[in-house]
Amino acid sequence: MRVLLTGGAGYIGSHIAVELMYCGYDVVIADNYSNSSPGAVSNIELTAGKKTAFYELDMTDVEGVDKLFKECLPDAVIHLAGFKAVGESVQKPLIYYRNNLDCTITLLEAMEKHNVRSIIFSSSATVYGASDPPPYTEDMKTGESANPYGSTKQMIERMIIDTAANGSLSAVLLRYFNPVGAHAGGLINESPRGTPNNLMPYIVKVAAGSIAELEVFGDDYPTKDGTGIRDYIHVVDLAKGHVDALKYCALHPGVEVFNLGTGKGCSVLEVVAAFERVNGVKVPYKIAGRRAGDLPEVYADVSKAEKLMGWKARLSLDDMCRDTWRPYSRKTNDAAVI
Ligand code: WQD
Repeated sequence: MRVLLTGGAGYIGSHIAVELMYCGYDVVIADNYSNSSPGAVSNIELTAGKKTAFYELDMTDVEGVDKLFKECLPDAVIHLAGFKAVGESVQKPLIYYRNNLDCTITLLEAMEKHNVRSIIFSSSATVYGASDPPPYTEDMKTGESANPYGSTKQMIERMIIDTAANGSLSAVLLRYFNPVGAHAGGLINESPRGTPNNLMPYIVKVAAGSIAELEVFGDDYPTKDGTGIRDYIHVVDLAKGHVDALKYCALHPGVEVFNLGTGKGCSVLEVVAAFERVNGVKVPYKIAGRRAGDLPEVYADVSKAEKLMGWKARLSLDDMCRDTWRPYSRKTNDAAVI
């Protein structure tokens, strides 16, 4: 079975590509390198132990996407291509709406034209609003996202649901919670361009000494230690969820939504403490003000994915911290030797 992976050279896409190749799928990656680099594809191939087809392509390029479909004839699509920085989306909303929606409309039109009838979409827990308390279940209200990035995810879910309504499409919408960690091989990991947006890349930069200390955005939330609680999920567990979603989609017409999380919430200070303990490093921090748009607690109810897909996250927070630091610990040790 041939799977087109849009945005497949990115952090999450790379891990999905490897898991698909481990399972014997024929993978075609399309990526414009807006949040990745050419080296990512060779690292995917080295990690998976086999070659993959690759198209350097912007998914808003109608002719380019049509040519891609004509040449690679995919049986299914896993769609990740899109901008994903929450803060940037607040600064540049129209760029996010134009890019993320245009990519998807171009893709869905190509799928319709070439009779490709299965899609797995990379959605996000950000589609859930603040009105319902966690744990979030898939039937809870969406559409109250606090930022344009989350709104594009919610709009794309709607696009796919409406397109599938005429029976022409089977779709699985996967709502990611907080993906962190990396494949144990150490070749594919999260290396955001410029200043990181998320907690774990910041922790890595502090532990590596390139940033003096971590800013903890608020310690006055109504949580166990006052800091924000999130559902961190190992990116390899997340990637495996896509293989299970592909199998589910092939057997079930229509549209299904699944949360991909662990069902457990960890605070910022718990993550910092685990990272220090597991890796034997120090992560100095200071308490700063709350970050606009942050919720006190976000974590998933993951019972539906286990019941219907047989998928469950298996890796622990310690595994996430260890696998995140591994590529950097080698560099740090080498530096120490030098
Ligand atoms: C986690 C916690 C912060 C940085 C976002 C998107 C979500 C998904 C994951 C794409 C919060 C705290 C963070 C720092 C801190 N992305 N924090 N200091 O905001 O939960 O989710 O990324 O799908 O859609 O919304 O992730 O890692 O930014 O924050 O204290 O320097 O860490 O306040 O409590 P978030 P995050």
